[in-house]
Parts: sequence; C-alpha cells; structure tokens
Amino acid sequence: MEKSKGRTIFVCQHCGRESLKWLGRCPGCREWNSFIEKVVTAPAVSARPLPPTSPPQELSQVVIEAGDRFPLPMAEFNRVLGGGLVSGSLVLIGGDPGIGKSTLLLQVSALVAHSRVKVVYVSGEETQHQIKLRAERLGVKGENLYLLTETDLDVILSQLEGLNPGLVVVDSIQSVYSSELEGVPGSVNQVRECALRLMRWAKLSAVPVLISGHVTKDGAIAGPRVLEHMVDVVLYLEGERFSAYRLLRGVKNRFGSTNEVGVFEMRSQGLVEVDNPSQVFLSQRWGEAVGSVVVPALEGSRPLLVEIQALTNPTSFGLPRRTANGVDFGRLLLIVAVLSKRVGLKLGNQDIIANVTGGLKIEEPAADLGIALAIASSYRGVGVGPQLVAVGEVGLSGELRAVSQLERRVDEAARLGFKRCLVPKTSASISPVPKGIELVAVSTLREAIAVGLVRGKAL
Ligand code: TYD
Ligand code: MG
Repeated sequence: MEKSKGRTIFVCQHCGRESLKWLGRCPGCREWNSFIEKVVTAPAVSARPLPPTSPPQELSQVVIEAGDRFPLPMAEFNRVLGGGLVSGSLVLIGGDPGIGKSTLLLQVSALVAHSRVKVVYVSGEETQHQIKLRAERLGVKGENLYLLTETDLDVILSQLEGLNPGLVVVDSIQSVYSSELEGVPGSVNQVRECALRLMRWAKLSAVPVLISGHVTKDGAIAGPRVLEHMVDVVLYLEGERFSAYRLLRGVKNRFGSTNEVGVFEMRSQGLVEVDNPSQVFLSQRWGEAVGSVVVPALEGSRPLLVEIQALTNPTSFGLPRRTANGVDFGRLLLIVAVLSKRVGLKLGNQDIIANVTGGLKIEEPAADLGIALAIASSYRGVGVGPQLVAVGEVGLSGELRAVSQLERRVDEAARLGFKRCLVPKTSASISPVPKGIELVAVSTLREAIAVGLVRGKAL
C-alpha cells in the first residue's frame, strides 16, 4: 500500500491563519509576507482528541470536589480569576513586554509556595541568578518554590513528573519549544502546540498552570492571541508605560465572569495591590479645574471613580484635530458632534483632546456625559464644582440615556465624599439614596451643561 504523502499548507506566522495557497498578505491580520509553508504529514496534534481518561459520565453524576478551586493569597488576582485557581486549568497572562508579567508571576508563586504548596517556576527567559535577584528585590525567600530555567518542553514536562507540584508557572510560552515540532520558539506552530501540551498535562495531573505571553505590536513573534481560544482563562496585564498602575483584566474565563479587574501599583518592591483605586486615581485632582470632570465608571462589577480631562484649543491651521487618550475615539467624535449640533457649541474650529488620567481606559458609554461636560467646561472656561460627579450616556438627539448599576456608582461617589451626582432622568430612581450625596436628574445634555457649568456658583 502506498504511504500517504504529506499535504502542504501555508500558515500565517502572525495570527495563525491557514491557507491552501501562499498569500502575499494575510486576509486575517493584514500582515505582509507572513505565510510560510508547512507540510502536514500526520493529522496536526491539535486535531487529535484528548486521550479518554474515563468513560462518558452522566452530568448529574459528576461530583464537584471541594478544593477544585483554590483561592490565591492575593485578593486582586483572585477577583479576576473569579475566586481562585481551578485545578487543571491553563491560565494565560498576556501583556506588553516589560509591563510586569514576570514580576506578578514570581510574586504569586512565592505567595502560593508560602502556603505550603509546591510551586515550580519555569523560566525560559531569565537565568536562575536573574530570578534570584528579582526575588530579593521582591523580598521573596522561596521555600517550596522550585526554579527551572529550561526552554525544551519535553525536558520541562519530564522534570514536572518527578517534582509533583501543586502549581506550575511557565514564563513565557514564547520561550519554550519542542524539538519534535517545526519552527523557531515563538512561532505560531510552536506556541500553539506547546500550550496544548501544557494544557493536556494540566488536565491529566489536575494541577493549574499559569503561562505568560508577550503581545507584540509589530508581530515579530506570535502573540498570545492564537492561544486565546484554547486556554481556560485569559488575563491581560495593562498599563501605560509611564504610569505605575497596572490593571489585570479578565478577557476570557471558563470558570467565572470576565468583567473583573484587579488594580496594582508597580513599586520598587514589586506589584502592590491597590484596594481603594478610586482614591488613588483622584489623589492628584486639582480642585475645581476647568475641563476636568469625575465619572463613576464601572470596571466589571467594581465602581471606579476616574477623572476625565478635556482641552479645547483653536485650530491654528488645517483640519481641527481630535485626540482621545483612554476614551474611545468614536465616542469622542459622537459627543463632539452632539455638542455642536444639539447644544450649539462651535467646536468646528477647535482642536480637542480628551484624556483619562492615571493611564486608565474607559470604554463604557456611561462616561459620555463626563466627557461632554469636560469639553464644554474647557471650551467655556468654566469649571464644574469639585464635589460633582456625572454619569450618563449621550444619545444622538442630545438626550441622556440610562446607565446600568447606578446605585453602585453613586455609592462609590458618596463614599469618597462627593456631594452631587448628575444623572439621566430616566435612571434617577434609586432608593435609598446614599447619605451625603444628592442626585441631580437631567434629561438632556444641554440641561446638564446648564446645571453643571454655572460661572460663579458651580454645583
Ligand atoms: P517584568 O516583570 O520583567 O515584565 P515582563 O515580564 O512583563 O516583561 O517587569 C519589568 C519592569 O518592572 C521593569 O521595567 C522594572 C519594573 N520593576 C519594578 O518597577 N519594580 C520591581 O520590583 C520589579 C521586579 C520590576
Ligand atoms: Mg518577563
């Protein structure tokens, strides 16, 4: 019998898209020259089903064992994980290089090891000496924490057998490779298959595995995006390069909500949990500043007060420019259009910059009113009162629309000492209104500006 010949396919090294013929530009990620040829001799490893470990079982008979989810001794991390690490799960922590993934993973490893669980920290990027230096900086002693500096996945997996750990960390997935596979470490093929093997190992041994992955903008190495669909949990560590705050954001979670964020601050001794982020983000606010409005935003289920600033300035030549930092560019354009058309502000010849302080990103439409007020405040040169917060979605006819979970937002504003909250009339009914704060219900953006921006007697 003739042996079946290998089939040739082409794989984009940037996003993992496969094609039967070579393409100059990937239709998926629009990257040029990213397809390389690959010969498929056997069915790809990923196509093979997991080895059956047990016969099919009736769902009603499956028992959930206590201890299937163990909480980590780090509250902000736990919050994002949905309460703790599930045994046998594969968790990906993605982020830009240098954002603090290795630092976070080493800190988590040390905390878990401290609670008498054996942890294996595999690093393919740093030497043991470098990790020790970092550990000293973090004040980590490291009993129960085993370092393995290795990049060959087969060696890593065989070492794990002997050690029998309770948690495994692999930093980073792009640095490990398997010699059985084609491609350099970090290529789509290697990243995907290595993650799959770690996944299988995690499932079979019921040990949680944390892996880190760099996201690169230029696409030089395969980003962790190709892994998102196969791992159980995807978290992204985000932050501005020049801000010390880091947000750990859930993007996918098979065992919990994806809406949660954890807030950390990068200090000289590592990442420190921030349990009162609103206070931190507002700490540098400058009283009744023109063009600055505080918005009770929601990050997942957590209310967070953020300061939105805007600056309008006459355009010196050419087209007026709009710049959005931390707010959605499309929303900014919409709000500017509504301010021009429905409120009558002449913004057509103004450059406009909107900014969220502290390097945060606010994407929910509930921040619309805050952005609009900040722009109007800067344009008119009148500040809003220092004790006012504003929340509401702006509609195209200039109406204010209801926002979700108003109660939580108002609570947080009251807790931090704000006295008045501008809210859309349609969602103004919460009871009881928290002590010390008054709800000011407005139905249109025009009305909100009339109430919020009053020269001399700001709210
Ligand atoms: P790192 O964890 O190496 O980032 P990643 O693994 O995501 O590439 O973090 C590197 C940055 O963090 C580096 O710029 C230095 C800074 N850092 C601190 O500010 N404090 C610390 O205690 C540590 C360990 C790092
Ligand atoms: Mg690192």
